[in-house]
Amino acid sequence: MTTKKAILKIGKSKTAHELSVYSGTEGPDAIDVTALYNESGCFTYDPGFMSTASCDSTITYIDGEKGILRYRGYDIAELAKKSNFMEVCYLLLHGELPNKKEYGLFVSEVKKYSLVHEQLQFLYRGFPRFSHPMAIMSGAFASLSAFYHDSLDIRNKEQRKLAALRMIAKTPTLAAMAYKYSIGRPFIYPRNDLDYTANFLHMLFASPSEEYVVNKVLAKAMDTIFILHADHEQNASTSTVRLAGSSGANPFACISAGIASLWGPAHGGANEAVINMLEKIGDIKNIPNFIKKAKDKNDPFRLMGFGHRVYKNYDPRASVLRDTCHSVLKELGMQNNTLLKIAVTLEEIALTDTYFIERKLYPNVDFYSGIIYKAMGIPSNLFTVLFAIARTIGWVAQWKEMIEDPKQKIGRPRQLYTGYKLRKYVPVAKRK
Ligand code: ACO
Repeated sequence: MTTKKAILKIGKSKTAHELSVYSGTEGPDAIDVTALYNESGCFTYDPGFMSTASCDSTITYIDGEKGILRYRGYDIAELAKKSNFMEVCYLLLHGELPNKKEYGLFVSEVKKYSLVHEQLQFLYRGFPRFSHPMAIMSGAFASLSAFYHDSLDIRNKEQRKLAALRMIAKTPTLAAMAYKYSIGRPFIYPRNDLDYTANFLHMLFASPSEEYVVNKVLAKAMDTIFILHADHEQNASTSTVRLAGSSGANPFACISAGIASLWGPAHGGANEAVINMLEKIGDIKNIPNFIKKAKDKNDPFRLMGFGHRVYKNYDPRASVLRDTCHSVLKELGMQNNTLLKIAVTLEEIALTDTYFIERKLYPNVDFYSGIIYKAMGIPSNLFTVLFAIARTIGWVAQWKEMIEDPKQKIGRPRQLYTGYKLRKYVPVAKRK
């Protein structure tokens, strides 16, 4: 990182504070304010992290204005077309694409850990059948720290590696179990003769009583979705993982915190909300009314799957998913799907409407993923769980990067206090 300087004067003070300005390899420069409080007694104020970089990272690069997303320097569209999810996992974790030998070893190591402890079944059985699968996922994931004591020492490189492999390998198993449990069907064990994504679809849809053959087009589509969702730099759930991990918490607990954050409708819960919205719209003729509602400041309704904190252009993941969506619906003979028609028309109308143009609101990754999942027969309350499977590798890579950073400190934001000044305690008998 090269250094420039920024000068800050506060109010009428004659003191000028000289702040270092760091340049990354790409993207905006960042002003280092770490010493500002000690020197000036002032904090910086940035709720929602609108202008604050919380760390430096070599994993993912986003240019929201241009609609660019790259993992370790590789463009997302190229990875989606030419790579596969396991290779992308290796890339995110280790920084480089694997050679043939490294790839083979990584895949077999991940497969080795795909089973979960048999006792976990009893944890699942403690949940009500109507539980949201994300509730089960975050609970089950946190519980892994109770089972795998030999991968909890975050200062031990081998244990960190073991924890990473376990988390990548077990997430699909936990997710499929959450689904099977919710519909009262038997759990399906992982099959290591299948690849990562086909194995997940098998655990999701197979039954012990009959043979289930995984559809190759659907498996490829799911693998693409996993690649697209694998990492997205310092979003809410990843920042949650980093903040939880900054205290030295074990990796299973940290990823569980990330799952909880991802669940929110403004984050990973949005694709479920997109389907609910498209179903509510119901017919192309109702679209103008919903567009009107989305633009009305007195109406809380927002066009789900539109807008992004970082992308002020078409989300590059949405472009890939649009094509994937068409190929999945073609494979399933569902080209005339009503939800897809509503989605395509809604997108066309919104992209030519001044409200959306002025605010740079474009379809985001969640806009098409829900339609693909629905066509595959995946219930909407499982959508965010699929996001969690894919994002686990991003969380793990970011957590690992943070732990291995010699500058790493516990994360502790400050605040602008706006509450009461000192007050005298009044005994209850004397209060009005
Ligand atoms: N529909 C209608 N208006 C919108 C939408 C939307 N989906 N998104 C933003 N706006 C408007 C806001 O009302 C605001 O208008 P104003 O300037 O007149 O007040 C302006 O656009 C800016 O919006 P903010 O909320 O300030 O933008 P922010 O960056 O904070 O929010 C967010 C981003 C949360 C994603 C937002 O666009 C949204 O709620 N979208 C719908 C939910 C969604 O699809 N989330 C998935 C995100 S992708 C992911 O997490 C994987």
